[in-house]
Amino acid sequence: MSETVHGILKVFGERGSGQYGSECVSQLEHAIQCAMLAQESDAGASLVVAALLHDIGHILDDADLPKSDEGNLNDSHEDKAYPWLLRTFGAAVADPVRLHVAAKRYLCTRDPSYSTQLSPTSFKSYLDQGGPMSEDELQAFEREPYYQKALQLRKWDDLAKVANKPLPDIASFKELLESCIANVDKYSTS
Ligand SMILES: [Fe+2]
Repeated sequence: MSETVHGILKVFGERGSGQYGSECVSQLEHAIQCAMLAQESDAGASLVVAALLHDIGHILDDADLPKSDEGNLNDSHEDKAYPWLLRTFGAAVADPVRLHVAAKRYLCTRDPSYSTQLSPTSFKSYLDQGGPMSEDELQAFEREPYYQKALQLRKWDDLAKVANKPLPDIASFKELLESCIANVDKYSTS
């Protein structure tokens, strides 16, 4: 197993059991449920990995964990992991992750009924993260090469909050993680 994949499993093992904000699932459950929804939708390997790692910015560093009072839920976790994700897995993984917060703002702006499906915590963070997008922001989002992937990821993210759902071990994603790292190596050396 590569050091990177070992490190990812270790981070989830050590810090993934914490609650995902006020949701009824842990960070680890949320990550695995999100990745499974991506697999069930026949998403490609990169997007499944993006789904698995989309919130890893929450748990990369103990000091950066969201505050328990949740006064302001805009912690920029989508940016925190971006340089590392880009270096490690490339843009096909890193960009949907970077855009998944903006994707919620986009979906709620384009279709206000989307916001009514959000959990109370997710609706609160939507407001803290800027609320509805301006026309300029909508257009800038649509210019992002991975914006459609980010919208897919966002929808799985909002569904991946089912309490007590039986889940596979995160180690079952090892080969998938390794294959995405191997592809980045291949492209960067050719
Ligand atoms: Fe999430």
